[in-house]
Amino acid sequence: MNDSASTALGYHRATSYQRYQISPHALDWANQPSLVKNYPGLPRVPLPRDLDLPRIDYFTRACRPGSESHTSDVAPDLKQIAAALQLSHGVTARAVHSGQPFYYRSVASAGALYPFELYLTAHGIDGLDAGLYYYDPLAFSLTVLRRQPLPAIPRVDRAVAATFYVTGIFFRSAWKYRGRAYRYVVLDAGHLLENLRLALGALNQRFSIHLDFDDEQTANLLGLDSELEVCLACIHLHIDTDKGTDTANSIELEPLSADIRQASQVSGREVAYPEILNIHRAGSGSGGGGSAEASSLMVATHGNPLARIDLDSSTLPIAADYTQVLGRRRSRRNFIPASVSRENFMTFVETMAQSMGSRSGMPAACRSALTAGILAGENMPLPPGFYLLDPEKRQLEQRIAGSLIEAMAAACLDQMWLKHAGLHLLFLTDLTYLDEIWGARGYRYAMIEAGSLGQQAYLAATALGWGACGIGAIYDREAADLLGLTESGALVYLVGLGPVKTSAGKTR
Ligand SMILES: Cc1cc2nc3c(=O)[nH]c(=O)nc-3n(C[C@H](O)[C@H](O)[C@H](O)COP(=O)(O)O)c2cc1C
Repeated sequence: MNDSASTALGYHRATSYQRYQISPHALDWANQPSLVKNYPGLPRVPLPRDLDLPRIDYFTRACRPGSESHTSDVAPDLKQIAAALQLSHGVTARAVHSGQPFYYRSVASAGALYPFELYLTAHGIDGLDAGLYYYDPLAFSLTVLRRQPLPAIPRVDRAVAATFYVTGIFFRSAWKYRGRAYRYVVLDAGHLLENLRLALGALNQRFSIHLDFDDEQTANLLGLDSELEVCLACIHLHIDTDKGTDTANSIELEPLSADIRQASQVSGREVAYPEILNIHRAGSGSGGGGSAEASSLMVATHGNPLARIDLDSSTLPIAADYTQVLGRRRSRRNFIPASVSRENFMTFVETMAQSMGSRSGMPAACRSALTAGILAGENMPLPPGFYLLDPEKRQLEQRIAGSLIEAMAAACLDQMWLKHAGLHLLFLTDLTYLDEIWGARGYRYAMIEAGSLGQQAYLAATALGWGACGIGAIYDREAADLLGLTESGALVYLVGLGPVKTSAGKTR
């Protein structure tokens, strides 16, 4: 791979998979990355376990948590913070695989490598001193990294009670995926961000999501070794008044100790992949990607749509408890060719369209950096084909007629079980467009948005009784050609969805 890829297009091309050209890579099991960060000797705050998790319907409430739609003006307490952490990155089941413990999580992650981490700065949380904390999802505790009033980073002109920071540790994922791992680190971060967005909405909190901030400043705040671990997203929790918040915006932050920065190293033998550092650094600085308005169909292939299908919001949503949906979410690959009702299909597509609009609370740049599409197979209540989803017009635009599902399964590194999925949800971008509008930071916007929508797709599928599985293993150009994308168009992520075999033999 070439190490000079410092544009979205350059990095994505340099890390493309091509049929017959993937070099074998033996996993270094003796140096498998640790699942959590280790801060020897630092105090921990156990999180309360007697939580009142929200009992709300997924389709009518939980999947629509627009950041401004809730009116809570109560400073959140430690129990609500614990609930947000449990919902967004909680252990949902334990198992033993090959003699090793395995922790199922509420969030999906490529290869179950979980490169993301969550940190919290508390400014006005009842029951938690002002300071910086690292969240350990396995011990369900907070490790105290700073105990002092801290500035709200990035700065905003509203009161901040707490801020969550989502980081990515490159080597957790690069251990398996090498230079291609940056894709998975940002996609996975998007999955976690979506769970956090949904959790804060379900807990009636006001929040704002930020992908534009000074990378160095956040690394300094969080005590990261920025060659190894980087901040990818921030979520401020807002309250209406300044009462109770303690943001010390004027203080100069002391760097944390070398021991704390050292904790970003998660394996005894780490390999640095220059292409990862290059693409991340090329997108550093404070971003500033709010304003561009792209055509939502920017990767549109040649010619006019063959047909347009209006989304139907009158379909009756199915009742599904949000917290239970999170607990049941798993990657399922045992798809079966069973037919899907129009009602279930429209409920799914509507849910996705709602998550793409301005009410999603995601930064505007994310929404213009990515386009979603659908491959419908033979068992769907619309003609088989390739459709682009236009969330503003609330339409599916058919671009190619006939089922591409089997050919796409082949383009996904011959993961042929995908040919039985009822539909493939596609996340598409134009890499040159990202570079032109936002520079390399545009790659983060597109990939975080794709991951975030991917997590929503997993949850919607679970609520419908379907299966879902994210797919990052793609012969990149083969997939793009299949869809007739332009030279700089790319399928960056795919989620296979649809009825699966259940133990009771039932399907929906
Ligand atoms: C970004 C991303 C890419 C993934 N790519 C693949 C893939 O190509 N093939 C596959 O079988 N599973 C893939 N998965 C599914 C993960 O392997 C799965 O989430 C992980 O093993 C954890 O299991 P769980 O989702 O059941 O909790 C992917 C997941 C994510 C989030």
